[in-house]
Amino acid sequence: MAESGILVAPKFYYFKSLSEVEEFIQLHDKDEIVVLDTLHIQLQELIKCRHPERRLSQELLSEMAEQHLSGTHPASYGVWVYYPWNKHLVHVLPESEFIEVRTNRNQYKITPEEQQEIGQKKVGIIGLSVGQSVALTMAMERSFGELRLADFDTLDLSNLNRLRGSVMQLGLPKVEICAHEILELDPFLKVIVYTEGIHEQNIDSFFTLGGKLDLLIEECDGLDIKILARHKARAYEVPVLMETSDRGLLDIERFDLHPELPLLHGLIGDLDPQKLKGLSMEDKIEFLLPMVGLNALSERMKASMIEVQNSICSWPQLASSVTMGGGVAAEMSRKILLNQSTVSGRYYIDLDELVPEPIIQTTAQPMVEVTSPMSRVQVIELVQTAKLIPSKDILNEVHKAQIIEAAIAAPSGGNTQPWHLVFDGGNLLLIHELYYSQSFLDFNNLGSYLAFGAMIENISVASSHLGYHLKYRYFPNPSDPRIVAVCSFEPKSAEPNELLMKALYKRMTNRRIGNRVELEESLKRTLEALSESNKPARLHLVTDPKKMAELAEILSTAEMLLLLHPQGHHDIFNKELRFSEKEVLETRDGLDVATLNMSKAEILALKIASSRKAIEWVERIGGGEAFKKNTKKAIAASGGLGIVSMPFYSEESYCSAGEFVQKIWHAVTLAGYSFQPVTQFTYLLAREIHGNGEGYPEKYRKKMREMDSQFRGVLPETMGRELVFVFRIAKETDMEIRALRRFKEHMLISVS
Ligand SMILES: Cc1cc2nc3c(=O)[nH]c(=O)nc-3n(C[C@H](O)[C@H](O)[C@H](O)COP(=O)(O)O)c2cc1C
Repeated sequence: MAESGILVAPKFYYFKSLSEVEEFIQLHDKDEIVVLDTLHIQLQELIKCRHPERRLSQELLSEMAEQHLSGTHPASYGVWVYYPWNKHLVHVLPESEFIEVRTNRNQYKITPEEQQEIGQKKVGIIGLSVGQSVALTMAMERSFGELRLADFDTLDLSNLNRLRGSVMQLGLPKVEICAHEILELDPFLKVIVYTEGIHEQNIDSFFTLGGKLDLLIEECDGLDIKILARHKARAYEVPVLMETSDRGLLDIERFDLHPELPLLHGLIGDLDPQKLKGLSMEDKIEFLLPMVGLNALSERMKASMIEVQNSICSWPQLASSVTMGGGVAAEMSRKILLNQSTVSGRYYIDLDELVPEPIIQTTAQPMVEVTSPMSRVQVIELVQTAKLIPSKDILNEVHKAQIIEAAIAAPSGGNTQPWHLVFDGGNLLLIHELYYSQSFLDFNNLGSYLAFGAMIENISVASSHLGYHLKYRYFPNPSDPRIVAVCSFEPKSAEPNELLMKALYKRMTNRRIGNRVELEESLKRTLEALSESNKPARLHLVTDPKKMAELAEILSTAEMLLLLHPQGHHDIFNKELRFSEKEVLETRDGLDVATLNMSKAEILALKIASSRKAIEWVERIGGGEAFKKNTKKAIAASGGLGIVSMPFYSEESYCSAGEFVQKIWHAVTLAGYSFQPVTQFTYLLAREIHGNGEGYPEKYRKKMREMDSQFRGVLPETMGRELVFVFRIAKETDMEIRALRRFKEHMLISVS
């Protein structure tokens, strides 16, 4: 590998006469060479520049130009510059006069002294998207003497939305295109190119060969090179500028003034570039995240990031931003090179912020929410007004505690745990706490009721184990459905069932995604038998991969629709997800992202997706496929999909279905398989069918109806039945992190 750059330069000729010019042309291929001689016009301009106070007539100008030559033949004045890459021979003024005229209009935004000073500076640019724009702007302004350009890439057609170039240059190295353009603008500038880009072997020469850089402009994509370049810049005490063409983000790191500065303002720690070597993109994201400042991206950029590798190949860059970035970076460079600025930091030159539009109301209209949970007093009042028939209190305190322990181990959608448990004499009441569960997805509280059913099954298992027969009734007070169930206990001979008790506590939602393992026949038979003995509930087991894939498409589309829906989105990000351990420990409910089995890249996508505005863009462009991937992958890696149906719709039938689901979950756990609900479709469908699609835009309604008939097409045996729950069964090891439960003291109330 080349360790140093290559000087790109045209050839300079100092001909003595026109015949020498002619000779040169003859020597070269005379039909191809293009000769351009505008020396006379350049001379006249020089004269004008030197006499700004005078209005010179054309004759006088010509005369003064002649005098300026003082007898020298025009052909032998100045320089003939030959550009071998396009076979042009161009006659220009001598270097000092050329510079004088070319920079004349910089005055006095740049004084001649400053121009002189900056013309000695050495600038390095790594990465030629924004980099090209900076390079060309600086070249036009003539704010360097030597430029080192590094990029290993060649020009693609898809670069031409933001890079200056032409279709004639496709496939050529970007550094070469840029160098040629600069030298065609000003043949006296010195340009060195690093066609392999920057790597460990050439980075020192890039910084130091031919004199230390005065400034580094870092615009490359490679994370390791970004870090390495900063380490080197700090070691050589070279300032670094980076413009990121989104929201006009400008980073300035003055290692020349403060060699002790942390890299990138401390956003990435003092990361060793060696550690980045061989890291997967997934792992690199951890470092990239703080570097880009995810939340600070523009909303359209966030939306685009979500679509990368779905509907678009890479993140977008616009010519307007790149051009602006070129200007901003060039201006900042000049200030740094002329010691007119000393600051380090991160800055935004964001037009949306600087020229704000009136705020457009987003479509997210969170529904009226229950703003606080019921107080103990309110719960007790609720229970007392129900005037339920008392039952004999036969449970001792230890058994009560054990039964409650089992009850609250029950699963709930989004781990909302939407309950209070009240011992009122011999009655145990299960009270629905809407504060926790109310959400767009939990249409008519159906998911909550299913969770209550699962809780009843847990109570039943535990009480039977302890020697009690459980009696229960759903919705004992028809005028207040917040009392979901009332339980009472009767003595019976104990039926210790260690296995079921073990399953009850071992049960978990396992979101791991591994390889598909066929379900054993014995498990299928167990599930069939369960289905038989729990009529009218029914379990439909699908193990055919093709059918599973068809259902996966529907189930994952529902997940996507929920996330794109303003209220669904609001719920997911404001109520359901817990991104930090602190949040998890404080609330002890909701979905801990650590239990979602997501890669770093997926968590990143989720964080990006938390921006409602970004999601509105995703919706507007008809995107969102990214949100389907995980579920599709999970289902493809499963041995089977289970669908629980009931003969008809009622709140109570969801409760009963919950008992059945929990029995299945325990059986699957005992058989050594893992279980994950995939339920959005069922509850969104219920909203469409039983709630007249309330809250759905028309296109959602249409889509839900379509998906309903597609689903029934794959599973005709569910036709006419209520779909209440869907889950996948796989063969994964248990997750290390379990979903927490709120402390039972917070949900248990005893009415004395
Ligand atoms: C009605 C209901 C719907 C659920 N839907 C989903 C789902 O769509 N996706 C998922 O991963 N987990 C789902 N879950 C699982 C819950 O998130 C999980 O039970 C809760 O976080 C507690 O964790 P655990 O089951 O490991 O105890 C659902 C659970 C219930 C009861």
